[in-house]
This record gives sequence, structure tokens and C-alpha cells, in this order.
Amino acid sequence: MNFYIMTLFPEMVMGGLNNSIIKRALEKDLVQIEAVNIRDYTIDKHNKVDDYPFGGGAGMLMQAQPVYDCYLAIRKKIGETAPRVLYMSPQGKTFTQEMANELSKEENLILLCGHYEGIDQRVLDRMNVEEVSIGDYVLTGGELPAMVITDTVARLVPGVLNNDDSALDESFSDGLLEYPQYTRPEEWDGIKVPEVLLSGHHKNIAEWRHEMALENTKNKRPELYEAYILKHPPVEKKKRRRKKTDD
Ligand code: ADE
Repeated sequence: MNFYIMTLFPEMVMGGLNNSIIKRALEKDLVQIEAVNIRDYTIDKHNKVDDYPFGGGAGMLMQAQPVYDCYLAIRKKIGETAPRVLYMSPQGKTFTQEMANELSKEENLILLCGHYEGIDQRVLDRMNVEEVSIGDYVLTGGELPAMVITDTVARLVPGVLNNDDSALDESFSDGLLEYPQYTRPEEWDGIKVPEVLLSGHHKNIAEWRHEMALENTKNKRPELYEAYILKHPPVEKKKRRRKKTDD
């Protein structure tokens, strides 16, 4: 999967992503991440990429020309098919795990990072952008959101995680938060690991983990718990019919 991140701060983006699991995925060519510098495409003799908004108002806007030429250069690389373009914006649809799952099926993805007070609307319309927000707060630019989205989507690409199962067995994957986990030693500072985890009894361990995931979700995210219960109503144990006896 190829990620093209259009930005004025390519070093910031690559510095944030080229570490740990994503670094390994890049080295293994499972994903490709390219931070493309929008400034490289300006035709302004002073390398300017922003200007004052028509009609007045606070701050500066990124101009259409460098953004569009940067986009066209990426399109040229990709070839025929038009990729989805995600524009990082607090006005967008809130990014979720479900959205990440869907995006991980794409072959190419363009993420556009705005700065200053935003980007000239004409070029956003021309590129047919989808606005995406990472939460209801305002950052100084789109780089951190682009890094968040790239990290979340890239780890879903097959082979990126060591164990393919580990993307399934985690918070949100089935609508529940995770169960608590423990590692060695069996006793730390007088606190023991729950007995069932040492039992080697796989069915009991799975049941215990499910119970703990339910309890964890109920306590920390009651709205997720309610949604889960609606989708998976607890199976009522069949009432034992009383035997009719004549005597
Ligand atoms: N740009 C500034 N704030 C943002 C946010 N919360 N999400 C996405 N892009 C942004």
C-alpha cells in the first residue's frame, strides 16, 4: 500500500513514522510512505505557498497552485486510477477504526496536510477531497492527523504486524475493549497473576478474557458496551422444565 502525504513539513512526517513497526514495514516493502513537499511545486520566485484571504480575515491561506501541482505529480506517479484524497481538517468526519479498516483496502492513498488558516477552496473541490478529523480539537496543522491515520491504516496491511491475529484480538476489533494482560513474574510486589491464566485451560482462559473485556468496556466505555449488548444479546440459559409428576 502506498501513502502519499502532501505537506510543508516532510521531515516531521517521516521522523514520526519511520520508527518501530512502521519502519520494519517500510524496510520489508509492505508499505511505502512518501512525504511530498508542497513547497517544491510553487512557481513563486520567493517560494511562497500562502497568501491573504480575499474578503479579509485572520491569517493566511495555502494557495491552489502549489497544492494542485503537487497533487498532479503524485497522480502521474500512480497512473490511471484516481486515488482517494483525505484532507486533514477538524471539520471532517471523525476518524474511526472502522474507517481505518476500509482505507486499508486501498492501494494508494493521498493525505493532504493544511497549514495556516486552511487551503483555497477551489483546489479542494478540484481534488474532490474527503475531509477527515482525528477529534474535536484544533491542531496547528494536518501533519499529526496524517501520521495518526497512516500509522493506524498501515498496521492493518497484511504482514505488517508479526502475528496476523493480533490485529483481530484487540480493542475495537469486535466492539469491545481489551481484557487485562500479564507477563512474568507470576507474582510482583505481592500481587499475583489471575490463577486461570496459569491453568493452561484454553476454554476457561478464553471465557475469562471475554468476561473481563465485557466488564472493562462496561466500566470505561458504557456506550460501546450498550451497542455490543444490542448486537450480541446474552444467551439466556434455558430454564429447566420442571418434570410433571403425578404424585
Ligand atoms: N487540522 C487541525 N486540527 C485537526 C484535527 N483535529 N483533525 C484533522 N486535521 C486537523
